[in-house]
Amino acid sequence: MRGFIGPNGSGKTTLFNAIIGRHAPSSGQVLFNGRDIRKCDPGERARLGMTLKFQVTSVFAGLSVLDNILLGLMGPRPVLGELRRRARGGVDMARAEELLSSIGLWEKRESIAGTLAHGEKGWLEIGMALATEPTLLLLDEPASGMGADETARTVDLVGRIRPGRTILIIEHDMEFVRSVADSITVLFRGGLLTHGDYDTIKSDERVIDAYLGRGRARGTSGG
Ligand SMILES: Nc1ncnc2c1ncn2[C@@H]1O[C@H](COP(=O)(O)OP(=O)(O)O)[C@@H](O)[C@H]1O
Ligand SMILES: [Mg+2]
Repeated sequence: MRGFIGPNGSGKTTLFNAIIGRHAPSSGQVLFNGRDIRKCDPGERARLGMTLKFQVTSVFAGLSVLDNILLGLMGPRPVLGELRRRARGGVDMARAEELLSSIGLWEKRESIAGTLAHGEKGWLEIGMALATEPTLLLLDEPASGMGADETARTVDLVGRIRPGRTILIIEHDMEFVRSVADSITVLFRGGLLTHGDYDTIKSDERVIDAYLGRGRARGTSGG
């Protein structure tokens, strides 16, 4: 579990885009399980086992919570007809139930996704990302816009989905990063500033300067 922090615009989302193949790096390599994947398109990378949960909410607002999860289980380019058939046939229902329970939305499975609270939408997206059974899960500010209570539940959720996979997490809430990440990478001005455990990072003058230089309170916000 690796946390990524850095002031707004420091390149965190750009790094994730380079990893999943939406941006081609002008130099350097992108290695996945030791293999250089620069030539793999985003679809191929997804098939290798990496999934990104976007910073921006991307659930299907007009569909039920359950249908969103079933779509996630079907992978790329699902067809609604097949979705319904599978839902009726019960093929993916056991897995869907397991996912919905793990994200705390089983009770809300028949709710229309667009009517969910902000935090619930975020958890639904994490559920959809998990449906692809990623070995590498990239979370870009999963608690963005959430209140304290929703953030605490997200910390708990991230901890629970952790076994058996690598998680890279961008998060500006330092308490969040501290409680979930084994190590932290600090980005600044599009590049690597430093990398280490929370205590090392917290007392690093360069990190403090990077944040204060942007006029933000030390250690409380990272964009
Ligand atoms: N390594 C980089 N190479 C080129 N452009 C970059 C790089 N890092 C950041 N940028 C530019 O800065 C902008 C903001 O970066 P972004 O990754 O969205 O920041 P963050 O997610 O840390 O707030 C990007 O849209 C891109 O134009
Ligand atoms: Mg970003």
